[in-house]
Amino acid sequence: MAGFAVLVDGVSKSYMLGDQVLHALDQVSFDIGAEEALAITGPSGSGKSTLLHVIGAMDSVDQGVIKSDEFEVTSLSRKQEVAYRRRIGFVFQRFHLLPALTALDNVAAPLLPQKVSFDKHGRAEELLAAMGLKGRERSLPSELSGGQQQRVAIARALVGSPGLVLADEPTGNLDSAMGEEIIDLLLSMRQQRGLTVIVATHDHQVAEKCDRVVSLTDGRLVDESWRGDGMGSSGRVETG
Ligand SMILES: Nc1ncnc2c1ncn2[C@@H]1O[C@H](COP(=O)(O)OP(=O)(O)OP(=O)(O)O)[C@@H](O)[C@H]1O
Ligand SMILES: [Mg+2]
Repeated sequence: MAGFAVLVDGVSKSYMLGDQVLHALDQVSFDIGAEEALAITGPSGSGKSTLLHVIGAMDSVDQGVIKSDEFEVTSLSRKQEVAYRRRIGFVFQRFHLLPALTALDNVAAPLLPQKVSFDKHGRAEELLAAMGLKGRERSLPSELSGGQQQRVAIARALVGSPGLVLADEPTGNLDSAMGEEIIDLLLSMRQQRGLTVIVATHDHQVAEKCDRVVSLTDGRLVDESWRGDGMGSSGRVETG
């Protein structure tokens, strides 16, 4: 499945903290071309995870519109929500593998509720091999290194053949060499499979490997490529 474009238009989300309003996302607008790799940087608390969550329909917005593939993410029916989620892969900082399941069963897990025409464990095995984990199919997460666990998590994110991968600090629990290996692997899978990739990261080395970098400060977005050479492919500055 080919990657798909994402449009984020005027998205705001706030939380009440006592009697104060906290603007987690404040009039955020940008778009991502199909098969583009976008990095979202910004300090802790700037809204990176919140932005990934709303793009992935894991959280709702207060205002604005998100379009992704043929879906209007900000107004999905229950049925569309299930269909949309199946077209997205998630990768998290803390891997989120199920501790009692083997690497193979972790990778195959998202397919279990689905009716598919291929062999689910065969597909999982192929992906583990592509991640350099041939021979480790029967290992439990506790028997794997951090980098290996993250490779299992990437295989799991890809098992449903998503068009979009959302990765939230995928290298945050790894040393810098392992982090570089993981981001290279993710970007090479993007190349091979034509995925759209959005990575939230603190790590500038990781961000620089992506096609485009945007940054958030207090929920407001700045398109870095716009400031640089003016060639930001589809980015737009939205100062609200
Ligand atoms: N459920 C919630 N209730 C209240 N405030 C929240 C909630 N979720 C997030 N926030 C606040 O929204 C802001 C943005 O949080 P978010 O997790 O998106 O930041 P982040 O950029 O991912 O930070 P980090 O780099 O530390 O992961 C923060 O101030 C956070 O405290
Ligand atoms: Mg975060």
